[in-house]
Amino acid sequence: MSADTSVRDACEEDNQALVELARACTMEGEISLRIDRSPDFFALDRVAGEPWRVGVARDGAGQVVGSIAVALRRAHLHAQPRWVGYVGDLKVHPGHRGPRLAAADRLIRFALETGRALGGDDLPGLFTILAGNRPMEHRIPGVRGLPSFGYLATLRVFSLPLLWGPRPPRPDLELVPARLEDIGEMIALWQRLAPRLQFSEVHDEDSFVRWLERAPGLELSSYRLARRRDGRLEGFLGLWDQRSVKQLRVVGYSRRLAVLRLAFNAVARPAGAAPLPPAGGELGCVTAVHVCTPLADPPVLRRLVLGAVAELRGRGLSLLHLGCDERDPRTAALRGLLAPSTRVHAYVSTTSGSYAGPRLDDRPLHHEIALT
Ligand SMILES: CC(C)(COP(=O)(O)OP(=O)(O)OC[C@H]1O[C@@H](n2cnc3c(N)ncnc32)[C@H](O)[C@@H]1OP(=O)(O)O)[C@@H](O)C(=O)NCCC(=O)NCCS
Repeated sequence: MSADTSVRDACEEDNQALVELARACTMEGEISLRIDRSPDFFALDRVAGEPWRVGVARDGAGQVVGSIAVALRRAHLHAQPRWVGYVGDLKVHPGHRGPRLAAADRLIRFALETGRALGGDDLPGLFTILAGNRPMEHRIPGVRGLPSFGYLATLRVFSLPLLWGPRPPRPDLELVPARLEDIGEMIALWQRLAPRLQFSEVHDEDSFVRWLERAPGLELSSYRLARRRDGRLEGFLGLWDQRSVKQLRVVGYSRRLAVLRLAFNAVARPAGAAPLPPAGGELGCVTAVHVCTPLADPPVLRRLVLGAVAELRGRGLSLLHLGCDERDPRTAALRGLLAPSTRVHAYVSTTSGSYAGPRLDDRPLHHEIALT
């Protein structure tokens, strides 16, 4: 190990180096992507929770070689509100991985110490790993004294093509943009439904408005409400165009998606969608946030999703991303929509070691994929 490698809290001056670091790390999936976090790397971390910290690893010459982010949130575990941590942005520059700098180990230790300082000794922390990410999968059993990662759930991140949609169910539901006077009802519904999911954030009206204020490119009017004819709110979701906080650059497509891309692009223009770009191009997508619909009534989600697809068509975008625990009954809402999905595994650990609390798989996981 190099003794001069260090991890410390990031400051504003690290912004450009962190943007470059994120650009250098490819996310390998069905679509391999490079995530450009310019102009402000920290913009997404501010939304991830409060308080939040970013750690940067530097080599002996002071060059930024790695990052990790820790954020605290109030969230439901077994329907009870409690503090939880969220760990993201673990990245080590491809030229600096491995034992010489041991940057990844040091960054994970920094996250554990920071979590302990902010949230105490028994803070459960959630983090996600893209299926097939070998370097991270090797770390699951706990390496070199670091805690093991307890498997929690597998999320499906659906990429819905903004091309077409079958006739939506529930014609009794009307979709309308949210207005200021809807917040009370939205939060009442959130408070009723969110405890049925693990790690769903605890919100009241104030915390929701503060969250929105921290999320660039997302307004209250970006939310779509599904109301019955008698006015009753049945569900809602936000549609977040994140291009002001992260731009997704395509590195390459899997063989399967390369074929699908040809089919997609053949019909994209007439349908008003942007073609899927070649390697190097920017992917135009919108991500669903705060998906709040009854677990037992997938057609409410399907109505909202098909409404969103119809609305977003013709705006120069290609995909709508929506994440859902694969055990969540609402995945049925996405059936038959020709939406390829990527699997992302979620894990839990704590600031004092491996998670040994009550089992967390008795209800589906809620996770905002927009923040990953
Ligand atoms: C995930 C990531 C941070 C891991 O960093 P890393 O541990 O330095 O890199 P690797 O795991 O590729 O390590 C390379 C090798 O060095 C070994 N190694 C790493 N740290 C070591 C240490 N402290 N002591 C001994 N060996 C070590 C690894 O075991 C691996 O050996 P192997 O190839 O024989 O399996 C890095 O791959 C990365 O930034 N990837 C892109 C972003 C990403 O996927 N982030 C994770 C999001 S959840």
